Amino acid sequence: MGFLEDEVKRLQTVLSSVEGRLKALEDRQFGGKTPKTAEEIRMILIGPPGAGKGTQAPKIKEKFHCCHLATGDMLRSQVAKKTTLGRAAKKIMDEGGLVSDDIVIGMIKEELDNNPECKGGFILDGFPRTVPQAEGLDSMLKTRNQTLQHAVELQIDDALLVARITGRLVHPASGRSYHATFNPPKKPMTDDITGEPLIQRSDDNAEALKKRLDTYHKQTTPVVDYYRKTGIWKAIDASQEPGQVWKSLLAIFDGDEHKASHSGSGILAKLAHPRS
Ligand code: AP5
Repeated sequence: MGFLEDEVKRLQTVLSSVEGRLKALEDRQFGGKTPKTAEEIRMILIGPPGAGKGTQAPKIKEKFHCCHLATGDMLRSQVAKKTTLGRAAKKIMDEGGLVSDDIVIGMIKEELDNNPECKGGFILDGFPRTVPQAEGLDSMLKTRNQTLQHAVELQIDDALLVARITGRLVHPASGRSYHATFNPPKKPMTDDITGEPLIQRSDDNAEALKKRLDTYHKQTTPVVDYYRKTGIWKAIDASQEPGQVWKSLLAIFDGDEHKASHSGSGILAKLAHPRS
């Protein structure tokens, strides 16, 4: 018994020393910031039209090297290609309604199954928008032995959204969005990166927005309640300027990093799951 205790203590000292050495080397290699591993981010952004989902999601993608799946962008790409789905979807989108649950669940499944970027995790923007979509996502993740880590709600008063939506300018190919006043492109109506023309979305007018907001409150607010019960829901004040919203998101991720340092980030976990 004495020998066992001594041996355990000796091994604990060795592990602790190796951990310390590994941490010091990682800090040197990555400038003090331990990189995220693959599969580390699985999150959804919920919020009304214009809340800033499409503005913040690319920054999350850049930070975590995950895929950014925006069902609105996917549907607009179908509209642009004039597919059967695109033709049917355009009418629904312009009227501020929702495309059928089966179709959007199928689109997300297809991406999670086949998009190599999703191997590094995912950020879902504009999905799930109904409780059946949230349940569909849950069962998709269950078959992969995965769970969602964050359901972040971007909260903002409806009154602030009219100016955001009616001033929005979009680069259709990339989904990059600007705002005529709050975030103007360097050259009017021109994408900063490609120099291609910007457009205004056909559903970005005050009349369609009213219907989209109505749909949001009726069909997507129950999704917020769905995630509130799971313990992964967090809310952010989305009326702040974009940099401040980003800082609020980082605070949520930092909370997670803190938690990670207390669960399974030790040397044994690293040996079991080496970084790719
Ligand atoms: P979708 O494309 O998802 O539109 P949405 O949810 O209405 O959201 P938006 O893209 O309008 O807003 P956002 O939150 O991304 O705002 P953004 O960051 O661009 O869906 C479109 C349609 O597709 C739906 O109506 C539905 O028909 C269909 N659909 C999509 N998903 C579906 C699903 N799952 N099920 C069924 N149907 C589905 O910001 C807006 C503007 O504000 C920009 O100009 C931006 O520069 C500016 N801005 C952003 N943040 C700030 C800030 N903090 N301060 C000032 N300005 C800001």
